[in-house]
Amino acid sequence: MSNYDKEKWNSRYAKADRQAVRPASELLQAHLALARPGRALDVACGTGRNALFLAHRGFTVDAIDISEVALSHASAQAEGLPVRWLCQDLLASPEIPQFGYDLIIMFHFVAPTLLARLTGHLSPGGLLMVEEHLQPPEGRGGGAVTGPHNPQYRVGPGELQQDLNELDLLFFYEGEVKEADDRSAWLSQVIVRNPE
Ligand SMILES: C[S@@+](CC[C@H](N)C(=O)[O-])C[C@H]1O[C@@H](n2cnc3c(N)ncnc32)[C@H](O)[C@@H]1O
Repeated sequence: MSNYDKEKWNSRYAKADRQAVRPASELLQAHLALARPGRALDVACGTGRNALFLAHRGFTVDAIDISEVALSHASAQAEGLPVRWLCQDLLASPEIPQFGYDLIIMFHFVAPTLLARLTGHLSPGGLLMVEEHLQPPEGRGGGAVTGPHNPQYRVGPGELQQDLNELDLLFFYEGEVKEADDRSAWLSQVIVRNPE
């Protein structure tokens, strides 16, 4: 399964434009001020849009992904920035490089067991920000909806909040978000803080 995932993502990233850096997540940009600057972890970082954004804002970042092709695209944009790009299958080997992160982000990578594990790697007062595609309500998941077709790569309503209910909830949104091209994304977004 994981070798299949690695090859799938490598071949997808191999077709992408190496120079094109996608904008950082709107959720991250809008709520970064909630986080204390320091050490950050980007889980399943892809080509590094969010890790690069954090490094430019003074964070020292560990960024993990299964795809070495994605990481090579990312590191080409990161000269001089404090980012450690780590190639790791987080489902087969869920060990996280260190403890005490001030900010952990996991965007568009559904892995409930890993999510539970991440909370133990936050510093006291550290922030965990998660955004996943949401299963749209019955009859609303038609052709104009962005994101994965396979429901395995989406979360159900309330699922993220439930998984993180031992931390202090700072932000929660679930629903439809209109994209620039007028298509809809159905998203679940949660920001929690580890108690001091
Ligand atoms: C939809 S992309 C999201 C990338 C990034 N988080 C973002 O928001 O731009 C999902 C990412 O998960 C990575 N991935 C898939 N399976 C993985 C695994 N088992 N371990 C680590 N990364 C994985 C893929 O390579 C891909 O970069």
